[in-house]
Amino acid sequence: MSFTMEQFRLAGKVAIVTGAGGRGNSIGRAYALGLANAGAAVVVADINEQGAGAVAAEINAAGGTAIGVRVDITDPASATAMVDAATTAFGGVDILVNNAALMAELGMLHVADVSLQEWNRILNVNLTGALICAQAVIPSMRARGGGRIVNQTSGGAFPATSIYGIGKLALVGLTTTLAKQLGKEGINVNAIAPGNVTSDAGRMLVPEESPFIKFLEMTVASRPRGSPEELVGALLLLCSDAGAWITGQVIHIDGGWVIRP
Ligand SMILES: NC(=O)c1ccc[n+]([C@@H]2O[C@H](COP(=O)([O-])OP(=O)(O)OC[C@H]3O[C@@H](n4cnc5c(N)ncnc54)[C@H](O)[C@@H]3O)[C@@H](O)[C@H]2O)c1
Repeated sequence: MSFTMEQFRLAGKVAIVTGAGGRGNSIGRAYALGLANAGAAVVVADINEQGAGAVAAEINAAGGTAIGVRVDITDPASATAMVDAATTAFGGVDILVNNAALMAELGMLHVADVSLQEWNRILNVNLTGALICAQAVIPSMRARGGGRIVNQTSGGAFPATSIYGIGKLALVGLTTTLAKQLGKEGINVNAIAPGNVTSDAGRMLVPEESPFIKFLEMTVASRPRGSPEELVGALLLLCSDAGAWITGQVIHIDGGWVIRP
């Protein structure tokens, strides 16, 4: 069968995006809007219930289909309730985007003296939360004959030089392991590793006048900062029939910050 642009369409598909309702200009919001634009019914999930509702309302006002759901991804019962809400509203789940994480709110913690409590709190959200959400959606994907999971890692994992980076690097391991173990069931699992993104959280973490921006300007192959919307094309490839044979991969979207063979 020859390729057509229709293979990027997600009509009839149901997608959950975690972390899509927190800050105003977030990557999760761009993902949710992009999936809805491609035709998917979207569950906008966030620990911030009001924010999730606002992004869902934005999608519905633009002619898309969405619901907002409060979820705490560290709580299996809450993740199950999120999937139940998706099933009640739209019949099941085809796509999970594990995007929720702690990032801008994390200070520069030193591994040498971080408390185990703080270590566990960060990894619970940034790593275990993705596992919990994957475990919650997999039964529905199996029942529907397949699905797509996209984990949001980070250029900050290549190499990992922070606790945040450790969690994001471990998320790559979760991605490749799930890909290997679920591939024969038609469930593709990939990761997106953005560079420095101008979401509200990204700007909070790295202000425009930060010396880090100067460093990136010298080291990144092309533009050192991108917008949340510039990540959406790759997400649609990974979630649609156009990317049906792609699994176990990390796609770097960073202007050539992490250049790998
Ligand atoms: N902005 C960047 O430069 C950048 C770069 C690389 C990777 N990332 C990753 O992209 C993703 C989104 O980043 P962003 O810049 O939009 O940040 P953001 O802070 O706006 O988004 C994170 C979201 O996760 C939610 N969240 C936190 N804990 C949660 C929990 N327990 N349960 C449910 N939701 C929870 C927050 O409420 C927030 O809405 C994150 O995974 C981040 O690590 C961001």
